[in-house]
Amino acid sequence: MSHLIAPSILAANYGHLNADFEMLNQSKADWVHVDVMDGVFVPNISFGQMLVKQMKAVSEKPLDVHLMIVEPEKYVDSFIECGAEVVTFHLEATAHAHRLITHIQSQGAKAGVALNPQTNVDTLDDILEGLDLVCLMSVNPGFGGQKFIYRTLHKIRTLKQKITERNLDTLIEIDGGVGLQNAEAILKAGADVLVAGSSVFKSEDPTKTIERLSSIQINNFDI
Ligand code: DX5
Ligand code: ZN
Repeated sequence: MSHLIAPSILAANYGHLNADFEMLNQSKADWVHVDVMDGVFVPNISFGQMLVKQMKAVSEKPLDVHLMIVEPEKYVDSFIECGAEVVTFHLEATAHAHRLITHIQSQGAKAGVALNPQTNVDTLDDILEGLDLVCLMSVNPGFGGQKFIYRTLHKIRTLKQKITERNLDTLIEIDGGVGLQNAEAILKAGADVLVAGSSVFKSEDPTKTIERLSSIQINNFDI
């Protein structure tokens, strides 16, 4: 499978969201990454269900909703009702990850688990089977436009090895500081989905940047 590109709408211009979705609809983007922040789990507040519903109405691409919130079990159903196709919550935000994964899937969405930079990928060992996606944070969550933490490459390789050894089809998504300067190294380490906010929306030609990220060819992995 070739990799997927998920531009992060957090970096878009909210004054003309429709135009940005129009651009994404016409582009090579595979998903649209939607960052939900509650001001508690992360020190920033973004948007909630009402805006996600509006986004769904204008998006031709699946919405990949990243919940950076405490008590995610209280809100997953409402985000799925608003149109989220992929729902990712943080392992650090719940004591019942396994239950929440199976619940999200029972509601018809794909389930993802996100890990903060300090959380080891070994913490996934007992929930990896049946998990649709792992989102490795390559910045501290809460803000766009931060610098990629290079240690993430090591985490990607370790996780890719676990997934390959167990013959799973869990996707590895990398979120934070991803752009044309490091995408190839990230893909070579074993990533399947690249989230890209600033590097797409702050570029001169976002459509072209998406296309360039999408067309990177990887012949063999680093492992
Ligand atoms: C960070 C968010 C990211 C963010 C990425 O908390 O989870 O999805 O939008 O933005 P860039 O690509 O600008 O680092
Ligand atoms: Zn995100």
